[in-house]
Amino acid sequence: MRLLITGATGLLGLNLSLVASARGHQVIGLSHSRKLSAIPFDLYQVDLLDTDRALTVIADARPEAIIHCAAQADINAAEKAPEKTMTLNRDVPARLAAISSEWGIPYIYISSDAVFDGQVGGYSELDPTNPLSLYARTKLAGEQAVQSVYPDALVARVVFFGWSLSGKRSLSEFFFNNLQSGQSVKGFTDTYFSPLYVEDLADLLLDSLAASLSGIYHLTSPQGLSKYEFGVRIAHRFGFDPTLIEPVRAAETDRGVARSLTLTLRSDKAQAALGRPLPSVDEGIEKFYQRWQDGYPGHLQSLAV
Ligand SMILES: NC(=O)c1ccc[n+]([C@@H]2O[C@H](COP(=O)([O-])OP(=O)(O)OC[C@H]3O[C@@H](n4cnc5c(N)ncnc54)[C@H](OP(=O)(O)O)[C@@H]3O)[C@@H](O)[C@H]2O)c1
Repeated sequence: MRLLITGATGLLGLNLSLVASARGHQVIGLSHSRKLSAIPFDLYQVDLLDTDRALTVIADARPEAIIHCAAQADINAAEKAPEKTMTLNRDVPARLAAISSEWGIPYIYISSDAVFDGQVGGYSELDPTNPLSLYARTKLAGEQAVQSVYPDALVARVVFFGWSLSGKRSLSEFFFNNLQSGQSVKGFTDTYFSPLYVEDLADLLLDSLAASLSGIYHLTSPQGLSKYEFGVRIAHRFGFDPTLIEPVRAAETDRGVARSLTLTLRSDKAQAALGRPLPSVDEGIEKFYQRWQDGYPGHLQSLAV
């Protein structure tokens, strides 16, 4: 399938573009500021905020499906540029959804676990949303705008970890980099999440496309854990010293931007639709470790121009 993937230099978009290429899809990736070399797919640089040029590039690519991973995904940067972030995270995905609807092709919008306020956790797709940060509000606004122009779109709420182009995009890389060099770090004991390993998420997105899923789905791990516990499990798997991780409470730490605490999500709807359990966090950490042994992080970083 000719698959257009935006944000193809990002943590998710790059891993997804590589997994999709390996699965035999013809990938057309879009990036903004970063370039790649020696990649098994086509890459075009375009600012999605330059709508006319972006739509020309996308139309020329003649995609048979679009997976929209690009976003302002940095919660602090989002807060500093609210209008630009709303345009990029709400209006751009809606525009891409509208053209996908017009062309009659599948469209996947990548949303976030952060659409919930994290007061209780265990959220299903039917639970009420209540985003706390500007970033989270723009992601929810993106969901609503996409669904209003293209009800058949797939809205995938995700959270993930893995190896990235810069080597420092993900929480897992934060723990890895610091622990490997013997640096102590803080780990939040009261912030819970349900992350998937990013290449597993890539497979699930492609499987969801093949299964023609539409509507809202949580593509998250069936288990939740604290960010402190996540760091400790990474330390154990890589043989680093887990006592370098100081357990602290996020609720007692000033992190500037309001963040949801208990963001565990239920993914049984996706499990039923895809006919298989979604990977556990430990399975994800194991793959994260195996890929390090394969030299995958160095390979990814070597793609950066
Ligand atoms: N990371 C997580 O755990 C997490 C959790 C929940 C949801 N999400 C969602 O998952 C998606 C992917 O996140 P990520 O962490 O992989 O993001 P990321 O690593 O920050 O990458 C963002 C991507 O968006 C591109 N981009 C940014 N501004 C652009 C613009 N104006 N025009 C075109 N492209 C632009 C970037 O291109 P350049 O790098 O070339 O500039 C980059 O490829 C996002 O929708 C995010 O909201 C992420």
